[in-house]
Amino acid sequence: MIYGNLQVVAGNANPRLADAICRDLGIPRTPAKVDKFPDGEIDVRVEDHVRGNDIFVVQSTCPDVNDHLMELLLLVDALRRASAGRVTAVIPYFGYARKDRKDEGRVPISAKLVANLLVTAGVHRVITVDLHAAQIQGFFDIPVDHLYAAPVLAEHFRQKAISDLMVVAPDVGSAKMARGYAKRLGGDLAIINKRRIAADHTEVTEIIGEVAGRNILLIDDMISTGGSITEAAKACRKAGAKDVYIAATHGVLCGSAREKLEACGAKEVVLTDTIPVDLAGVEGLFRVLSIGPLLAAAIDRVHHERSVSALFVRREEGMS
Ligand code: R5P
Repeated sequence: MIYGNLQVVAGNANPRLADAICRDLGIPRTPAKVDKFPDGEIDVRVEDHVRGNDIFVVQSTCPDVNDHLMELLLLVDALRRASAGRVTAVIPYFGYARKDRKDEGRVPISAKLVANLLVTAGVHRVITVDLHAAQIQGFFDIPVDHLYAAPVLAEHFRQKAISDLMVVAPDVGSAKMARGYAKRLGGDLAIINKRRIAADHTEVTEIIGEVAGRNILLIDDMISTGGSITEAAKACRKAGAKDVYIAATHGVLCGSAREKLEACGAKEVVLTDTIPVDLAGVEGLFRVLSIGPLLAAAIDRVHHERSVSALFVRREEGMS
């Protein structure tokens, strides 16, 4: 082993997930103070020795994307200055990922800038889950372990043994992901043609596939304003679908997303805990499944220099 002990440090984005990972790894979380100075600047101190060790910083860049990104950068800087042997940023939800190309004049490629910032801060490798666009891995010239929540989410629906299942992609961009779930669950695939009118307003133009009389699983990488997936759910129901289930890896749930999801007629909304989800008032409709065991397994494999892709062998049989 090149590096010393495995340690997990976390910022304020998702301490519960960090603790779940530590429980699975059988180690205590390395304490760190992550606070704010009175002027709003972020104040960080890692409270234990890290010299020579293999450090995993667990921090989604959400729900408070800018503060949580800055906390992550400062933690990495502190760890490098404290002579950590290797620093891996474990970013279950990678924010700014939707700005991954210059699709009009005078706009940034935010995902690339975030990648540059992480590397400049001193990150040696990244572990992340269901990047909005898998190509973002190429924004880094360091190893990126890109994990999929599919085994966690698909297992939930496999246990439900939903009959007449049609997996529906709420837009063309999520078609590949939906096809993987359809293969895993033994259902058919339909794709929705979506038009985005504004950041929080989408419109369904057509459903490619016959959803009438079928039970529907709508699957996406994230639910942000909830517009895409709730419009898709309503369109499926209008087209004669039976039960509509919704699943997504990342529950960003900004603005009135919760209300939209409650009102769209879905039977269940299933998310993972890459981002903490406040279930107050919506406990009946929502299910949150933990990605902690998968992340712990990946961290353990990285630490012991074992294959991470081996975690996904069974899954790849059903993915394309
Ligand atoms: C789109 O490309 C993504 O996969 C999601 O469908 C989208 O970002 C979700 O955003 P919202 O919930 O605001 O419609």
